[in-house]
Amino acid sequence: MNTSSMLTDEIHEYWTGVANTFQWNKKWDSLQSGNFTDVNVEWFKGARLNITENCLDRHLEKRRHKKALIFEPNNPNEEAKFFTYGELHLSVCRFANLLKKKGVKKGDIVCFYMGMTPELMMGILACARLGAVHTVVFGGFSPTSLRGRLEDSKAKVIVTHDGSFRGDKIVPLKSMVDEAIESLNSVETVLVVKRTLNEIFMKPGRDFYYEAAIKDCELHCPATVVEAEDPLFILYTSGSTGKPKGLVHTTAGYMVHVGNSFKDVFQIKENDVFWCTADIGWITGHSYLTYGPLLNGSTTVMFEGIPNHPTPSRFWEVVEKHKVSHLYTAPTAIRSLEKFGAAIPDSFSMKSLKVLGSVGEPINEEAWQWYHKHVGKEKCPIVDTWWQTETGGILISPIAGLTKLKPGHATLPLKGVVPVLVDEKGVELTTLVASGNLCIKYPWPSLARTIFGDHERFKQTYFSTYKGLYFTGDGARRDEDGYFRITGRVDDVINVSGHRIGTAEVEEAINEHPLITESAVVGFPHEIKGQGLYAFVTCNDESLTPEVLEKQIRSTVEKVIGPIAKPDVIQIVHSLPKTRSGKIMRRILRKIVENDLANIGDISTLLNPECVDDIIKGKKS
Ligand code: PRX
Repeated sequence: MNTSSMLTDEIHEYWTGVANTFQWNKKWDSLQSGNFTDVNVEWFKGARLNITENCLDRHLEKRRHKKALIFEPNNPNEEAKFFTYGELHLSVCRFANLLKKKGVKKGDIVCFYMGMTPELMMGILACARLGAVHTVVFGGFSPTSLRGRLEDSKAKVIVTHDGSFRGDKIVPLKSMVDEAIESLNSVETVLVVKRTLNEIFMKPGRDFYYEAAIKDCELHCPATVVEAEDPLFILYTSGSTGKPKGLVHTTAGYMVHVGNSFKDVFQIKENDVFWCTADIGWITGHSYLTYGPLLNGSTTVMFEGIPNHPTPSRFWEVVEKHKVSHLYTAPTAIRSLEKFGAAIPDSFSMKSLKVLGSVGEPINEEAWQWYHKHVGKEKCPIVDTWWQTETGGILISPIAGLTKLKPGHATLPLKGVVPVLVDEKGVELTTLVASGNLCIKYPWPSLARTIFGDHERFKQTYFSTYKGLYFTGDGARRDEDGYFRITGRVDDVINVSGHRIGTAEVEEAINEHPLITESAVVGFPHEIKGQGLYAFVTCNDESLTPEVLEKQIRSTVEKVIGPIAKPDVIQIVHSLPKTRSGKIMRRILRKIVENDLANIGDISTLLNPECVDDIIKGKKS
């Protein structure tokens, strides 16, 4: 059935059927309530459950000895680790007892700032076991970014590593935590998991080694039963304005949609091995590395390293080593491996592969074809899955093996999801072929419920642009088959290597450099990253050479946000194009970096039209 023709009753019937496949301590009194006008959506109200019983306990009878988790370390010479459902269950329970010993209880917030090792997955599940709320901060963010998130969430406990391996580097996570929490009184306990064994400072009474602390913790931990709408996690993501937003996902709705979409989209079978290459610090790692696979009793692969370390054949070696059947990765990873040539994947048969997935950014046709031919050997469907941190799970995607594919198209909405395209004024475009802003018309269970501590901002950001609709921030086209093709963000968010970066955040970071007066950051098409960051800056002081200034700007951004937000190109300009009211015209800058000068529009009304020519002349290719 085509979702757009589903009636509310049918949508409800559908979700009721899906929800009935999960384990509940008590079923819901009301399936769904609230709407996008009042922004008070709730699902499964009155139900009681624990998500870890759904991820772990309920599989024990049939799958106790089945592999739940395969851990592939950064260094290929270090042995992989395997955890059966039975073992993962015990590890999670023991970790939960440790958190309990450190005072964590239902509703408390625990922050994870870690590399990708099994303890990260166990830790977040341990939180969920206790009804505590996890907030994972990607280990590539800077201490300043971590501090901002801790100030917002007020997490009392942090779990970290001494350091994490990233290719041939060590990221000194514990000392980064020390820097982040200096004089931040809300943090009472830091648990340190040993990984890189680099020297670290341990503050007595605050810092504890995980290995020592967990030794005498029991292996049995009853699951805390929570309400359907109790929060499961907070995940921070960037928007077009202001500080990163802590999106709050609640337990039952998230579980139902994520568990179900994993099964449906990837058409998972009992003996499949699923490898999602995302870091757990992002929503993809939450939903389709951790919860989705475990909710379905599947085997999930966790990879500590990066695609081209120690060589660009690493991904394909891991696929063969662990007999991966489903590979789910980002276009940026595909493009970065493509540049090493097809001969590398061609020398691997990868015959275990059945389904390929793409996520995080639009996939260009060339990368799609390369992935299809050289990785999937022309026999694996590619599911181009569109979704967001806010949506919790996949909303638009082919169903593997069932939907006819079109490269670059996320194709059709999943059942129960009702996307619409609207024009600038919010009028719904009802013709089949249309191009507009992508909105969702009807609530789905795994929608984030709020921004932590700021419901007004949640309303403003997602529900005020178009009345009664959830606005995604993306543009899309719908073709004669009703297929959606996502064209990219229409706001000031840039998708760099599939990572969401708010231009305002980067500008703020650049402006922290004492010699910078003003800056404007826009996205430009980048061969590998999809989009790169192009920064225009003004500086009144000529004491530094442009090279030195650029270097300093990059390190300022790295310090404030993290390496992922470092501008690819920096152009020092005399002034930025502004309206008469002083607003920087980023639209003009965007056209310049996209080499689309024909569409630059009328500049005569600008406060300083003469600067546009200078900027064009000085543009760096
Ligand atoms: O612009 C869309 C892009 O990624 C944004 C969401 O980013 P984030 O919240 O970090 O979540 C990424 C992982 C789900 C979207 O607004 N995006 C995500 N998937 C696709 C995509 N763009 C095109 N095609 C996709 N398949």
